[in-house]
Order: sequence, then structure tokens, then C-alpha cells
Amino acid sequence: MATLSNNPVTARAHTNIALIKYWGKKDDTLIIPYTSSLSLTLDQFYTDTTVQFDASRSTDQLIIDNQISSEQPLHRVSNFLDIVRRKAQINSPAIVNSHNHVPTAAGLASSASAFAALAAAASKAAGLNLTLSELSRLARRGSGSACRSIFGGFAEWQRGEDDLTSYAMPLKAAALLEDIRVVALTVERGPKAISSRQGMHLSVTTSPYYPTWVKTCQTDLTQLKLAIEKNNFAKFGKISELNAMRMHALTLSADPDFTYFNGQTLTIMNLVKQLRHNGVACYYTIDAGPNVKVLCQKASVAKVVDTFSQLLGKQNVIVAKPGPGIQYL
Ligand code: ADP
Ligand code: DP6
Ligand code: CO
Repeated sequence: MATLSNNPVTARAHTNIALIKYWGKKDDTLIIPYTSSLSLTLDQFYTDTTVQFDASRSTDQLIIDNQISSEQPLHRVSNFLDIVRRKAQINSPAIVNSHNHVPTAAGLASSASAFAALAAAASKAAGLNLTLSELSRLARRGSGSACRSIFGGFAEWQRGEDDLTSYAMPLKAAALLEDIRVVALTVERGPKAISSRQGMHLSVTTSPYYPTWVKTCQTDLTQLKLAIEKNNFAKFGKISELNAMRMHALTLSADPDFTYFNGQTLTIMNLVKQLRHNGVACYYTIDAGPNVKVLCQKASVAKVVDTFSQLLGKQNVIVAKPGPGIQYL
């Protein structure tokens, strides 16, 4: 039995950008995906979360960015804390105080950093001493993408087939990691209309292309890992861009159809292609929201930043490097 700590525990987790996307659950409750995915953790975007179990409280409380959260995010966090409480054999409610250094629910992976930080802080506060694989499995239960944010650099979420076998692991040190930059372009900070959870569910259940996505992802993942191994940035960028577009094709082919893109998203995509045509090696990837991430190398950062600062303003252009794994503060 775990020893419950009454002291608050704080953890920091960084967001990650998926290069091979996770888009669809085989098991909605345990969050087992149909496909494996691969991501890069980013140093510029993160969540700090403090958890304190308090037996004198009657319910859980969630505060995000100094505001008491609405019912839906609280419900999601409470369900997650129930998993931790069951594991630790405790039943105290908790206060969760979280700060997102990333826009919430805007397609910049706040759920990834949020549930990775919550998994680390809550499990430690509950007296559990989990390994990184166990922590990744736990974070997965809050948000699939969170299982990858336990690790720094490149992380691969191997889909597995059940709770025990579905978790992320770091990719071994790669030369490509040293030189890579992710230029994050923000065109919208507000919450999206269709959450990632709803969007992928709709895609799995109604897109006729879903079975093809599952097959294609396997090949894309193998090819991307090869490009990383061979330090081939052009191939790395090309596969990442293709895989992102293949994911977004699932939203366009769902019933009812939907898209996370807006007009600016398309403008940016075209500009990246134009830059590439002019000899700047850069590629785009887009998660479930209109914001775009441009993949490039150190040498082309200035050119990419210049181009997009003119279009969007400097404050909407952030240069990220590979970020670290989970940290206790
Ligand atoms: P995103 O693209 O930001 O990951 P999602 O739709 O996947 O968007 O997830 C957004 C949801 O994640 C929010 O509606 C909320 O339920 C949850 N979330 C985000 N940040 C936090 C946080 N700091 N603490 C707890 N839950 C959070
Ligand atoms: C497009 O992990 O946010 O960012 O598991 O339902 O919480 P839930 O979904 P989430 O989905 C992420 C979707 C994505 C691709 C990715 O990060 O792999
Ligand atoms: Co998310």
C-alpha cells in the first residue's frame, strides 16, 4: 500500500508535436490506439501542475491558469484521479492547480503536457513510485498524446494491445535531433469547436478511408524512423508533412465532414511550399487545430522566422527546440 503524502507535489511536462499522428482509439476507455505514433517534445510549451490530496475535502477541485475550471475538464481530471486513487488504494479528494504555458485546447497539445504533468504529480503525491513506462501508461489514460510527453526528444508510442503493452519510449539519441527546430505559428489561441477526442472518434466511425490510414501509418512510421537513423532531414520532413495531411484527410472524409484548418492555415501551407521551392528546407505539420508547426534546421530558422513574422507578427512566431522529459519541481 502506498503512503499518501499531504504535501503538494509539482511536476512539469512539455508538449509534443506528433510527426506520425495518433488519430483513433481501438479502446475508448483504456485509450489504446489503432496505430503507433512518433513525436518530438518541445522546449517552449509546457504545463506545471501541483496536486495535493486532502481528506478534509468532499470533492476534487481543478484550477487552470488561476481560474476554477468548468465541469467538463474537472470531470476528466476526476476520472483520471480515480485511476490513481485505485492504484494507491486511497480515497482522498485532491486540489489540482495547473498552469498552461501553451494555449488550452487550441491544437497545440495542451492535453499532452497537462496529463503528463498530472500523472507525475498525482502519482507521486499519492505515494506511488512509478517507473517511466508505468508513468507513460498512466498518462495515456488521461490523454493519449500525454504518454509521449513523459520523454524528451523523439518518443515513440507503441500502440500495444492492452493497458500493459501500450506506452511510449524514447528513441535513441539521433544526430537529427541536434539540428532540428520547430517554428510554431499561432493563428488562433482560442479553444477548437471539435476536441481531438470527438474529432478522432468521428473519423474512426465514419471515414471510409480509416482502414487505409491504419495501414499507411505503419509504413510512414517505419520510413520516418529510417530517415531519423540516416539523419536525412529532407526525407524526415517530407514524411512528416505527408502523414499530417493524411490525418487531416480523415476529417474531410468524415460524415459530417469537418476540418481544423482555417484560411490562414492554407496560406501558411502554401508559403512553406514556396519557401521550399526557393531552396529553404522546411516542412509543415498540423495537429487538431488551425495552428501550424514548421519543421526546419538551425541554418534556415532566420529565413522561416522572417517570412512568417511579416505575415503573422513576431508574437505569433515561436522557435522551439527539442524539450526535456518529465520533471519534478
Ligand atoms: P489540445 O490540442 O490542446 O491538446 P484537446 O482537445 O486534446 O486539445 O484537449 C483539451 C482538453 O484538455 C481541455 O478541454 C481540458 O479538458 C484538458 N486540459 C488542457 N489543459 C489542462 C490542464 N492544465 N489541466 C487539466 N486538463 C487540461
Ligand atoms: C492530432 O491525445 O489530444 O494531436 O487521447 O482523446 O485526449 P485524446 O486525444 P489527444 O489527440 C492528439 C491528436 C493529435 C495527434 C497526436 O498528438 O498524435
Ligand atoms: Co490533445
